Parts: sequence; structure tokens; C-alpha cells
Amino acid sequence: MVAFSLPANSRIKQGKTYPAPAGAKRVRTFRIYRWNPDDGANPRMDTYEIDLDTCGPMVLDALIKIKNDVDSTLTFRRSCREGICGSCSMNIDGGNTLACLKPIEDITGAVRITPLPHMAVVKDLVPDLTQAFAQYRAIEPWLKADTPPPPDGERLQSRKERAQIDGLWECILCFCCTAGCPSYWWNGERYLGPAVLLQAYRWIAESRDEATGERLDALNDPFKLYRCHTIMNCTDTCPKGLNPAKAIGAIKQLIIDRQV
Ligand code: SF4
Ligand code: SF4
Ligand code: FES
Repeated sequence: MVAFSLPANSRIKQGKTYPAPAGAKRVRTFRIYRWNPDDGANPRMDTYEIDLDTCGPMVLDALIKIKNDVDSTLTFRRSCREGICGSCSMNIDGGNTLACLKPIEDITGAVRITPLPHMAVVKDLVPDLTQAFAQYRAIEPWLKADTPPPPDGERLQSRKERAQIDGLWECILCFCCTAGCPSYWWNGERYLGPAVLLQAYRWIAESRDEATGERLDALNDPFKLYRCHTIMNCTDTCPKGLNPAKAIGAIKQLIIDRQV
């Protein structure tokens, strides 16, 4: 059985409730998507009441507290806790974001947490990113150059050349943008999606790379690139403040420029 995460406003059956400990003064409710591929049951939303006086300020702190102190079966990805590794991406309060960068206090009422939308779920809050990472591999995200490096070993860039990859290198491959893109929802097997296209442009804009033409040729495809309809959800949701829609537009422009 495969479960798919659902839009943030969808109705999922209420599951167990874990009440706050006696005497808790600053209680917040967390409603969290649960699905276990091994128990045969349908997805449900479990409710956890957490005393914020005993919990850190971010949504990830609450998830870690739940796992450590309340319900060790809750499953989610995380590593750095600093917005760097990209592994704690999920849908919180209706938006795709990083749990470690989302302050609990920014959310009004119960905190609703589901996996990244429109992706297969491995378990609970863990989306299956197999397809997204296969698409990432397909754009060959590494430096390609036939010219040998200088004898002292380093390929240098001017400050101006280096600035051309600002707004691109910062991408942490959290796939918040891809999971928020309606074109990817419907054509994800053939459309590369905003995260992978931003990464593709990172290598196209790289002054030391010598495969620009080859990279543009590979992207010039009605599905891989041109399923982007500039809906801009990707840019709205990126927790790192990046602009995948702009990167996609730049790729399209470069393809046009080569044709004239
Ligand atoms: S701008 Fe393109 S990539 Fe971004 S959400 Fe819209 S269709 Fe998807
Ligand atoms: S562009 Fe932003 S939302 Fe998309 S994968 Fe990179 S960091 Fe995440
Ligand atoms: S835990 Fe690494 S980005 Fe959130």
C-alpha cells in the first residue's frame, strides 16, 4: 500500500490524543499526520498537547520533544536543526517549509503538520524523494570541463563570475518548492520541477563549467522545462528566500537567445 500526503485543507480521520501533563501552563496543540505502511491502517491525524515551557521555540523542537517524551513512534527527518541540511521539510500550517526554521509562535491556534504534499509517503512525515533525487542526478550537477585545471590546481573565478551563482548555490534541496508546484503535481514524472531546474541553472550560470550548450540542449524539452507556467508557488514557499521561477525563466531565455 502507498499513502499519498494530502492538501493541507483535506480532512483526515482523527487518531489518538496525547494530553498535556498535569500542571502545564503554556499548552499548544499539534495535529500531526500519521501513517505506518506496516499496520494496514489508513492515515490519521494524532493530537499532541505540548507545554511550551518545556520545549524549544521551533516546530522541529516540538517534534523532537514529542518523539523523545511522548510518542517514540513518530517518524520525521531532521539533521542540522539550522536550515542547512534540507531534511526537515514538511507542510506546517498549510505551507511547505523547514520545521527547524518555523517558530511555533508564528502560528495561530493548533499547529497542523503533514508531509510535503502530493508526494508518496514513506512513513508519517517522511516523503519519498526517490524520483526528485533521480531527476537531480539526471541534470548532472557537477562541474564539467575539458580544459585541464591550472598547474596550481584551482580554477579561479572573478568576483563578478562568482556573483552569478548567488541565489542558486544556497539551495539546500529541501524540495519545498517542488512539492508546492501544481505543474509538478500533475506531471512530476516528466517535468523536472523548480528545485531541480534551479540546480540546473546553477551549473549553467557557473563560469568554470564548459557544458552550457549541452545542458541547455538537454533541458529544451516540452515536459522537462516547459511545464513551468510561472505560477510562482515555488518562489513563494522557498524557506531560503530563493527564486526558482526566476531561474527557470533565465533558462528559457538562454534557450531563446541561442536560437536567434
Ligand atoms: S513558477 Fe513554474 S516551477 Fe514555480 S510553481 Fe509555478 S509552474 Fe511550478
Ligand atoms: S529552491 Fe528553495 S524550496 Fe526549492 S529546494 Fe532549494 S531551498 Fe528548497
Ligand atoms: S534539520 Fe536541517 S534544515 Fe531543518
